[in-house]
Amino acid sequence: MQSKERFLKALRCENSDRPPVWLMRQAGRYLPEYQAIRAQHGFIEMLTNDELITEISLQPWRRFQMDAVIVFSDILLLPMVMGMDLKFIEGQGPKFSKLIASEEDLEGLKPFDKEKIAFLINALKQIKNEIKSDAALIGFAGSPWTVASYMMQSSKNVGPTPFLQKLLERLTKETIFYLQAKIEAGVDCIQIFDSWGGTLSPEEYAIWSAPYIKDIVTALKPTDIPIILYVKESEPLLDLMVGTGCDVISVGWETPLSRAKLYNVAIQGNFNPHILMQATPQEIRSKTKDMLQTMKGYAGYIANLGHGVLPKTPVENVAAFVETVQKT
Ligand code: CP3
Repeated sequence: MQSKERFLKALRCENSDRPPVWLMRQAGRYLPEYQAIRAQHGFIEMLTNDELITEISLQPWRRFQMDAVIVFSDILLLPMVMGMDLKFIEGQGPKFSKLIASEEDLEGLKPFDKEKIAFLINALKQIKNEIKSDAALIGFAGSPWTVASYMMQSSKNVGPTPFLQKLLERLTKETIFYLQAKIEAGVDCIQIFDSWGGTLSPEEYAIWSAPYIKDIVTALKPTDIPIILYVKESEPLLDLMVGTGCDVISVGWETPLSRAKLYNVAIQGNFNPHILMQATPQEIRSKTKDMLQTMKGYAGYIANLGHGVLPKTPVENVAAFVETVQKT
């Protein structure tokens, strides 16, 4: 069976030969070939150059033949194309020079315009040409809550306000256009990263994150493109995650898969990235087999990590993880 078909079957909870496998943050710093490009180019330059995006997205797939390729990009690209100045500070990561702090700042944000992500659209088409049906292509966005947290630098400090609500509404609208542009470019699936969703209690999540994700999922439904929702500290939020209408819940490593299984939706996860970094390849093979055993017979299962690959992870550990799934 070809990888794309295997991946899409799992998203629809249909039986296939084995669970598909890919890793969040598979295109990144643990790969020497990524480091080689990174030594020559700035991060923002890499994010906005179609040749570099294509090359970096394909690097992990060439080595490991995962069942899916996620496009190399960042959740902060959307606020950047909405006019916020994004800089990469070495040793820290991407930072906005000026945060969104007032109604005026909010009104100053520009509407999403797909002309401004022509480099990304080109890259998606190039990647698709290269992978054909030998991998599914994943496009992504951050959730409004998670992206707003970066734009305001901890919305928690500001507290739930009508201002935050306006920002979330605005981000929801632009994220829908942003994801529609990726779908038009040919992605097979969308993942919404709500990496900071777990900082909210279920009561707060029901107000500040879930409704906006639900609006995005509803708006994209007519495209028939499956949607994966990832939350890191997901266990208390599983009900609300499923309630957004997404097709797949991607859970953190603290959430027992045996518990996630009770929801009868497709599940992605949830190998501990710290174990992937620290354990020996032999231990990784054994723990990966345990994870597969828990999900044995569950058609809607996508093997992945509970969060992104950590930069210091040895390449052979990633190989041990991927190969163990591929050989079952
Ligand atoms: O998964 C992939 O391989 C695709 C690429 C991808 C990146 N960022 C590239 C990247 C994806 C899916 C993201 C999503 C993203 N970006 C998230 C959500 C997922 C998560 O990890 O929780 C978040 C919160 C961001 C914002 C962001 N980008 C931060 C906080 C940082 C600095 C910390 C870090 O992990 O490096 C980044 C930088 C970043 N995004 C790098 C890469 C490859 C590292 C850049 C470098 O130093 O070379």
